[in-house]
Amino acid sequence: MTRMRHLAAAATLLGALALPLYAHADPCKLEISGNDQMQYDKQELSAPGTCKEITVTLHHAGKLPKEAMGHNWVLVNAADFAAVANAGMSAGLASNYVAAGDKRVLAHTKIVGGGESDSVTFPASILKKGAEYKYLCTFPGHNALMHGVFKLS
Ligand code: CO
Repeated sequence: MTRMRHLAAAATLLGALALPLYAHADPCKLEISGNDQMQYDKQELSAPGTCKEITVTLHHAGKLPKEAMGHNWVLVNAADFAAVANAGMSAGLASNYVAAGDKRVLAHTKIVGGGESDSVTFPASILKKGAEYKYLCTFPGHNALMHGVFKLS
């Protein structure tokens, strides 16, 4: 009997420990990292069409400062990829390498350096199911390596 009670207590404790983990698994909250090798850790991100808002958090897992190895996360229609990358390049670090008032930019974080993070939240209603979206880092020279596909599933 005592043994049974201990097992039950252990199961309850495990359940309580597991709960916060599941609570964080919100499919509308996405995470991506950049590193000092000019890479994102994910080449694809997707969120369910049932999300009201989508939050993307960018972490910089490296050590280099943003002036040398800055990363941002910029969401665009796939067709606007090159134009947004070019416009961003000349916008400068103070503007997070995003051209002021660029309507082709659907959402973006600021530029982060090693150890920093930034999040952006946008309404899912700006995206269409089945349309082709891409994300990129607009720090000069980064978009060739740092890009991915974004899908509303
Ligand atoms: Co970058």
